Amino acid sequence: MSGTTTREVTVTVNGAVRSGRTEARTLLSDFLRHGLGLTGTHVGCEEGVCGACTVLLDGTPVRSCLMLAVQADGHRLETVEGLARNGELSPLQEALMVEHGLQCGFCTPGILMSLTAAEREGLGTEATVDEVLAGHRCRCTGYAGIRAAIERRGRETNPARHLPDTPGEPAYAADTPREATHPEVTLPSDMAFPSGSTGSSDKGGEATR
Ligand code: FES
Ligand code: FES
Repeated sequence: MSGTTTREVTVTVNGAVRSGRTEARTLLSDFLRHGLGLTGTHVGCEEGVCGACTVLLDGTPVRSCLMLAVQADGHRLETVEGLARNGELSPLQEALMVEHGLQCGFCTPGILMSLTAAEREGLGTEATVDEVLAGHRCRCTGYAGIRAAIERRGRETNPARHLPDTPGEPAYAADTPREATHPEVTLPSDMAFPSGSTGSSDKGGEATR
């Protein structure tokens, strides 16, 4: 009986040609992390659900936990390590940071790679954003910060358009006055607080003995 089958795998990762010998059964995610030391690609479910392991293969997002390293031989890979240039975060990374789109950061590399690919395709419609985020599980942020970061990028790349704050809302132009898109809640007059009242103790009442 023969021993373990190994193969030489050569890939171009983030612009650099990298090679390594690995078992034929090695997952691409493990090859990246343990073979090439690129631990920015995270591994969560290992069954294609959470999206944490997403990398770009010839520009297309793939689950690296669902591919063998040998399948990537000769191909071009992009991982989260390649996004920052000369010590500067990519605009998407910057937007996620500014909008608090991450907490523990476990899901973030995968989301960044999917968003990077989508942005190259012209990310900007609500449907595209929903489609991208549907492929990723974040257990921390609830997606609000992530959506805010995408909206920020939308404003930066196309000032004429805002993404809706919530699904179902219409998109609106960047110069639309805020009062038109975020009308303040106006209480009916019979519910308004009397002048001089802070409104903070109306229901609390006074302490009785
Ligand atoms: S680790 Fe690959 S999709 Fe979850
Ligand atoms: S930031 Fe923690 S899982 Fe997404």
